[in-house]
Amino acid sequence: MKILAIESSCDETAAAVIEDGRTVLSSVIATQIEEHKLYGGVVPEIASRRHCENIVGVVKEALIKANVTLSELEAAAVTYAPGLIGALLVGVSFAKGLAMSAGLPIVPVHHIKGHIAANYITNPQLEPPFLCLVVSGGHTNIVKVTDYTSLEIIGKTTDDAAGEAFDKAARALGFPYPGGVYIDRAAKSGDPAKYRLPVPKTQNPYDFSFSGLKTAVINLIHNTRQRGEEPDINSVAACFQLTAVNMLTDKFISAAKDFGYKKLALAGGVAANSSLRESISKAAAENGMEFFLPDLSLCTDNAAMIGCQGYYEYLAGNTGELSLNAYATKKLQL
Ligand code: KG4
Ligand code: ZN
Repeated sequence: MKILAIESSCDETAAAVIEDGRTVLSSVIATQIEEHKLYGGVVPEIASRRHCENIVGVVKEALIKANVTLSELEAAAVTYAPGLIGALLVGVSFAKGLAMSAGLPIVPVHHIKGHIAANYITNPQLEPPFLCLVVSGGHTNIVKVTDYTSLEIIGKTTDDAAGEAFDKAARALGFPYPGGVYIDRAAKSGDPAKYRLPVPKTQNPYDFSFSGLKTAVINLIHNTRQRGEEPDINSVAACFQLTAVNMLTDKFISAAKDFGYKKLALAGGVAANSSLRESISKAAAENGMEFFLPDLSLCTDNAAMIGCQGYYEYLAGNTGELSLNAYATKKLQL
């Protein structure tokens, strides 16, 4: 069964054709990062306009690369929430038009469920139930993945998302947007013990907090410069990353122990972070837990993950009407 998937929730216009949920026949991504870099973050109005310009070409390319015609498709899956509303509306409206003209059912997919599903593509043996740490630019959650379409959130961020914290710390260090990957690279040649950064506390043991850590990085840079010195950028990056990674790893592993999970997965853009991948792999192995990761190319936004989740939503009968709307925010829990 072949599904066409469309993703346009932020600054990537993406389309993919997925067969039987886990085989990627094509995956095309038109990124707008270079343009948003000029402004130090995503400009929603520009994102919507670029999606409008790119979507026809991206979908066509995905169909051509997969060597599939519209008549061979079983359904059209699309990210309908959460994200930038103008950006989401481009994908949803396009998918609705295409579904109507080709006589296909439309399958609305929650973006975060898509990120989790990226694990199914890389790891064909992975099946729910498992515990997933979702770390993206907009979300930080510990999620019980009960089955392919039902989830339960047991931990969340109380302020910034993990990716947001990486990007804000990176900006303070002078790196371009999105800065997570620059912190990852810089940290490799820094000394993670050079500076002391606070470990944020939360009331709920499975919740996260990043804003104090981000502020500490900004203050550290500011205070060092006020003393007429230059901060060691690589070491600040290494200290920030170590603190964030330790917090994510410790809370995730303790939630897994407390709830009796032996199967773990990681999802979202920050799942591309080399130190986080290593840290959870090590902790999981020490605790006799299996740990699954998406391929690096499937961590950040793409449509293949939307097609994978779309397949399971379709099997569960979760199709949408042509009155389907897009939502900037939408609870992950159904
Ligand atoms: O999942 P994603 O593509 O978009 C959202 O749904 O939000 O995540 C983007 C986030 C950005 O904050 C970016 O800096 C972060 O993922 N990211 C990383 C790395 N690669 C991407 N953060 C840390 N280390 C990386 N290697
Ligand atoms: Zn995302």
